[in-house]
Amino acid sequence: MTEHDIAVIAGDGIGPEVTREALRVLDAAADVYGFRTRRTSYPFGSEHYLETQEIFPDAAFGELRHKDAIFLGAIGDPRVPVGLIEYGIIARMRFELDLYINLRPIKLYDASLCPLKGKEPADVDMVIVRENTEDAYCGAHGFAHKGQPLEVATQTMIYTRAGVERAVRFAFELARERKRKHLTLIDKANAVRAQDIWTRTFAEVALEYPDVETDHAYIDAACMWMVKNPEWFDVAVTPNLFGDIITDLGAMIQGGMGIAASGNLHPGQVSLFEPIHGSAPKHAGKNQASPVAAILAAGMMLDQLGEKAAAAAIEAAVIELLRSRRLKGVGTGMHATSEVGDLVTAELRAARGVPSAR
Ligand SMILES: NC(=O)c1ccc[n+]([C@@H]2O[C@H](COP(=O)([O-])OP(=O)(O)OC[C@H]3O[C@@H](n4cnc5c(N)ncnc54)[C@H](O)[C@@H]3O)[C@@H](O)[C@H]2O)c1
Repeated sequence: MTEHDIAVIAGDGIGPEVTREALRVLDAAADVYGFRTRRTSYPFGSEHYLETQEIFPDAAFGELRHKDAIFLGAIGDPRVPVGLIEYGIIARMRFELDLYINLRPIKLYDASLCPLKGKEPADVDMVIVRENTEDAYCGAHGFAHKGQPLEVATQTMIYTRAGVERAVRFAFELARERKRKHLTLIDKANAVRAQDIWTRTFAEVALEYPDVETDHAYIDAACMWMVKNPEWFDVAVTPNLFGDIITDLGAMIQGGMGIAASGNLHPGQVSLFEPIHGSAPKHAGKNQASPVAAILAAGMMLDQLGEKAAAAAIEAAVIELLRSRRLKGVGTGMHATSEVGDLVTAELRAARGVPSAR
């Protein structure tokens, strides 16, 4: 039986609660679809930092490279300086494990979840491919005359040909696999002239994919079209900063933070899967956060691990629960966090006729 070796960082706030339910669903999927997971839990996060002053020791970090996948709940706590732990854990994994693709499926599972008037599931079914290691996030920033009236602050947007090309190529490959085979480049090359490297790279790589229809939108227009005509998008590829922003807009049109999942990928190497929401401190410990985003992130992880049937079944279970109204929604307090785990595991088993007591 195949065994997948998974690192788990449940993290802070609602992270442990949603992770617990995602792992229950993972166990049910393993049982029903005949694979095993071996899991190592790491305690890192703000609580651990406050107790030990340790963020992510190198020895533990080194172990991650040998795992098949990493699952993350959420990181962040108001008692710790802003960004310290997020940078030390999430950004460190993205950069040092070279997780160069941030993959964000934006799929509306039920019309009731969408704040846009008249939009149906068929209208919202896209994937954003966000470049995940370059742009303004490289850390090339500085301050001169800090705190003085003439203070200067700079942050450099960095794009490399290799970095842009691998993201663009990934997006073309993904578009080629989908029914519509349509890929939009989203940038702001008219104003941010350095993004001309995206324009040129996209045009060159497109020549190798004549079966994929290409399109272009500036980021400001793309935000407008995503709200007005989300059905225009199939796959979109975009630099890191714009991707960070537009994927939250995408989360809202698919139903909010309680449902949006992501993968931070390095194809062929260890990759990281997480709900896109943060630690939502005000909801922590109340058993009221939606674990659906975490459950769908676990599904994305299984898909990448090659457990395609189990991954599809997790998504199908969530869709069935939402459309039958057994799952009323994905907002806080609509269901107990644990109840959602119960519903999804039961649905997974029922869909294959596997009894729950085994
Ligand atoms: N990847 C990560 O771990 C990650 C991502 C974003 C923010 N953060 C960190 O999380 C902390 C809190 O940030 P924030 O409050 O801006 O964002 P957040 O995503 O934690 O929460 C914002 C709001 O979204 C809703 N929400 C979030 N998760 C939900 C869920 N599972 N179910 C239902 N509703 C949910 C809640 O209304 C919540 O108040 C900060 O420290 C921030 O740095 C971490």
